Amino acid sequence: MDTASLAERIERRDFAPEVYAYPTPRMLMPTDTFSISDAQFTDEANIYIHIPFCNQLCSFCGYLKTVDRAGTLQDGYIDALIGEIRLYAPLLSEKTVRTLHFGGGTPTLISDHQLERVLRALTDANPRLLHSATEVSIESTPERIEKKRFETLRDLGFNRVSIGVQTLDDREIALSGRKNGKEISSRAISSLQDAGILNVVVDLMIGIGGQTVKSFERSAQSLASLRPDTVELYALGLMPETRLSKAFFSGISSDISPGISPRTASSRDDAILMGNDDIYRCYSIGQQIFSQAGYVQDCHNRYAIPCRGGFLQEDYLFDGMSVIGLGAGARSYARNIQYRNVHSLNGRVAIAQYIATISSGRNAVTATFVVDDDERARQYAIGHIESLDRAAFSRSFGPFEMRLPEELRQLQESGIAHIDESIIALNPDGLKYRDLVARMFFSPASRSKEREYRSGVAG
Ligand SMILES: C[S@@+](CC[C@H](N)C(=O)[O-])C[C@H]1O[C@@H](n2cnc3c(N)ncnc32)[C@H](O)[C@@H]1O
Ligand code: SF4
Repeated sequence: MDTASLAERIERRDFAPEVYAYPTPRMLMPTDTFSISDAQFTDEANIYIHIPFCNQLCSFCGYLKTVDRAGTLQDGYIDALIGEIRLYAPLLSEKTVRTLHFGGGTPTLISDHQLERVLRALTDANPRLLHSATEVSIESTPERIEKKRFETLRDLGFNRVSIGVQTLDDREIALSGRKNGKEISSRAISSLQDAGILNVVVDLMIGIGGQTVKSFERSAQSLASLRPDTVELYALGLMPETRLSKAFFSGISSDISPGISPRTASSRDDAILMGNDDIYRCYSIGQQIFSQAGYVQDCHNRYAIPCRGGFLQEDYLFDGMSVIGLGAGARSYARNIQYRNVHSLNGRVAIAQYIATISSGRNAVTATFVVDDDERARQYAIGHIESLDRAAFSRSFGPFEMRLPEELRQLQESGIAHIDESIIALNPDGLKYRDLVARMFFSPASRSKEREYRSGVAG
């Protein structure tokens, strides 16, 4: 077991995959007795809808999805989704919905008619929804963007659209199995801007196969000149059952990604393709390029044009506002419990089980995790570590130095944070180590589950 301190991890440039929620999905335990009334959701809440269809399977992507070009699975899936919304209707009717996000997969693969049916089911359950939600958001891919379609979506209420550009280097795009070359991606961004989408969001990857520090810099510079409202930087992580992780761990990764240098430090726990030093260099380059271009750094990996960009659903989740997740594999976050709908690494299996379960009138929840006070304190610390108000933490959990003394000591020793009586905040350069810091706050049980999971990825 690696017992290195945070300072030692930073010194040896360890890399940690992104912690996008805590407790992580690895803490979920199987259940077949869950009832929606078991969950205590906050009065203001967010809705997440999972649409698991794609036109391609990218080599690196481990999200729940399947290729369904002919669209044969879609009607059945949308019927089930509407069935699930009706199961949740009594709960939804009581909530003030602050954000609605369609994630995937590629949610824009479903038709306008199907989208409208889902929106109608949601507004039947909660007629105020489209007025109370300040963010209504959907994910798409650059090659699916046509101005007219997105004008229609804007008129339906969508004000945020995110697209996975990943890189503006055509060779890197081809290696990943994607089709959005630089021209397609650039056109997609301007079409969304022309369609009047308020918040145009672009995902850019660090460490995608074949990428170098120089080519990342070129992509980031080109992207900044296209001026999307938000840029999300994702450092490539190896996810189970992806073509990339299988190729990497069977030693044939050069077929997919020539020129890669696997991480230099310690085990394969959190192996990635680009070397760790280079990953951190790219984070710093991104910070410089987007700051100089007038973006503010919203969090460790997000840059936003002030008053336009951002991702409220993620911010609200970290602030403790509940998320009600609907669709195959969707996760829900309530105050007392987190849970996940039927999930499988095989998207088709998950979709079939989801449709069958909802059609029989039952909820689709197959795994839960009860969040106790200790995990809630850790969750809060992770969610606020970029700038944590000690008085606010103390009101819920008691003094930080009593609650998480060892973590505070390690943070002090690492030198990457500003710490005084009122605030604990990562300094600008420390932000790039946010995921190492987040993992330091994991409970012993969570660390052990993560180790099991990572050895599964490699196995
Ligand atoms: C669920 S995908 C949706 C985007 C959309 N389907 C597309 O590909 O254009 C959201 C984002 O997750 C990121 N992502 C996917 N797999 C990843 C991985 N293995 N490591 C890091 N980020 C990843 C990509 O940047 C992707 O755009
Ligand atoms: S990155 Fe996007 S398009 Fe590619 S497989 Fe994942 S969800 Fe589908």
